Amino acid sequence: MRRLYEIIAFGALVLGAASLALTVYLWVGDWPQRTKELVDYQRSAAENAGRPPEPLVSAASTRAGESLAGTWPAVIDPYGRGAIAGIAPRDVRPETPSDLAEFSFDDGLTLEVPGDWNSQDPRLVFYTGTVWYKRTFEHRMGTGKRTYLWFGAAHYRATVYLNGRLLGEHEGGFSPFNFEVTGRLRSGENLLVVRVDNDKLDGDVPTPTTDWLNYGGLTRDVRLLQVPRVFVRTWRIGLDPEDPGRIVAEVVVDGAGGPEDVSLSIPELGLEATGRTNAEGIARFAFDAGPERWSPDHPRLYRVEMRTGEDVVSDQVGFRTVAVRGREILLNGEPIFLRGVSIHDEAGHGEGRVHSLVQAQRILGWARDLGCNFVRLSHYPHPEETVRLAERMGLLVWSEIPVYWNVAFESERTLAVAKQQLSEMIERDRNRAAVIIWSIGNETPETEARHRFMTALAEHTRAEDPTRLVSAALLTGQEALLPFVTRYYLPALAGIVREVWPFRIHDPLVDVVDVAAVNEYFGWYYSGAIGFLGPVSSHRARRVMLDNMHRIRIELDAEKPLLVSELGAGARVGLHAPEEELAAFSEEYQALVYRRQLDMLERQEGLAGISPWVLKDFRSPMRMHQSVQGYWNLKGLVADDGTRKPAFAVLRDWYLSRREREGGA
Ligand code: GCU
Repeated sequence: MRRLYEIIAFGALVLGAASLALTVYLWVGDWPQRTKELVDYQRSAAENAGRPPEPLVSAASTRAGESLAGTWPAVIDPYGRGAIAGIAPRDVRPETPSDLAEFSFDDGLTLEVPGDWNSQDPRLVFYTGTVWYKRTFEHRMGTGKRTYLWFGAAHYRATVYLNGRLLGEHEGGFSPFNFEVTGRLRSGENLLVVRVDNDKLDGDVPTPTTDWLNYGGLTRDVRLLQVPRVFVRTWRIGLDPEDPGRIVAEVVVDGAGGPEDVSLSIPELGLEATGRTNAEGIARFAFDAGPERWSPDHPRLYRVEMRTGEDVVSDQVGFRTVAVRGREILLNGEPIFLRGVSIHDEAGHGEGRVHSLVQAQRILGWARDLGCNFVRLSHYPHPEETVRLAERMGLLVWSEIPVYWNVAFESERTLAVAKQQLSEMIERDRNRAAVIIWSIGNETPETEARHRFMTALAEHTRAEDPTRLVSAALLTGQEALLPFVTRYYLPALAGIVREVWPFRIHDPLVDVVDVAAVNEYFGWYYSGAIGFLGPVSSHRARRVMLDNMHRIRIELDAEKPLLVSELGAGARVGLHAPEEELAAFSEEYQALVYRRQLDMLERQEGLAGISPWVLKDFRSPMRMHQSVQGYWNLKGLVADDGTRKPAFAVLRDWYLSRREREGGA
């Protein structure tokens, strides 16, 4: 027995010594480089898994640094296995012919950045999953500067690796984010690898099912930003909501060890002041001032300059007030009618997501030609470039987060993700005078959980930015439709036509928002559904709806401005039929629906604006009528190549006549 214990003790001793030797060797031993890199990678993966980006550096496109735009090697990874042993993040390559390599960035797919992958490769049109992007770049050390890796947006989840180490992750496909990489760069060549995954889980925002194509990729610019050790990270500036005779501003300085001097000037207004940052690095400013007000007829912008230490940053800012008064929306104290159109972030001509100024000019140019003074950028934050261009063009903006249809309203995680997207949207565009409405969602079903969720989002929005209006596009659900159909529409199909057809919106969300926005599809889905269910033919269902649409009145329970945030009908360019045939998807039918809708809205009380659905046909996996739709939603007023449908002129002429009547731009 004693012998046995001696053998065991000796064994333990040997084992202990061996592992000690191994540990020492691990630490100080001369490991093969690639083993060290693997260990390094795994350590970073353990340490930085789920690590969120650093606070956002504003106005990235005006900062010193460089764009990493261009052609990037990429690898489609349907099963998302590339991270195993850090093969993709480290761009591991075979070193000898005997090495087994089953992943490589070389000699394969390349993707343009910025850009979605769906419109760049036929294999990726409907692709949902992981794609790995690789980019090398040179860096010169010793500049004394801090460096940030900034992404305009990556859809949907981005995992970012630098020099074979995990930096962190970002969820949400439509907002900018950045990682500080000071101290993580090498002198000379650096390796950036980004895993982008557009797969969405039920708890995500949006959910996997949307009536738009799930564009994936590094959809907006990627930049290396160089800033001084102490720099102006972000700011908010505008008219004081309590006293519009004053301009108030907050400038946030990053990197200061203590209170720091900051100066803010608006040269064209002869305003300049120096402030001192507080413990949070914030300096506050207030000026008595009377700038020319920004408005669609006068999109006046002022150059605002902020300085701290050796850092100088500037912005082009407009000054205006926006508020509601009863059923009116007031811009600079005056009622304004929003002549709008809803827009998806698609460039046209099959080019996918907008990623250049030229594309943004094309899209907003069409809205301008339509006679718009307002654009509903749906259903998610569009590129900063588009918003800044709208501001220069004098287009008011509705900006929205993709709480679209049925997100997981019960889930705390989903609420946190939605709030994060709200904060990111507001942080990026809060200094844009053009943005007047933050939308917290679209067509969310009326449930208790949804009401709690949306109320929390409205509160979060007002806490982040009390100077703008909050809204959400309401789904005209069965609560409104059923009484409308049973008391007015169905009797009319039987020849009993009542004078006025009230369409009552009882959605409790109306009490939570500032502007009650309603999506309605009289003449398209409602009559289409009746025709489909079959008490009468589709033609009769459409005929009765069209001939009585002027009787419809949308009624709210609250004294709030009403915005019809969606109305419309589909039409395939080139598909024609005599109007009286009421042929769905014919250009004639779409134009007829618009004429009847606008005639109805002419009589609508408390109407503060409309944003018909939609400016341009757009890609959607939901539209499977192959010979007519071909996976395009055809409710555009223009086709993807810009060809105008007759309904375009119907709406334009109505807007021009309204503009003349209102004497505005
Ligand atoms: C909905 C929805 C849109 C959709 C449109 C349509 O109202 O908000 O995202 O594309 O209707 O059905 O065309």
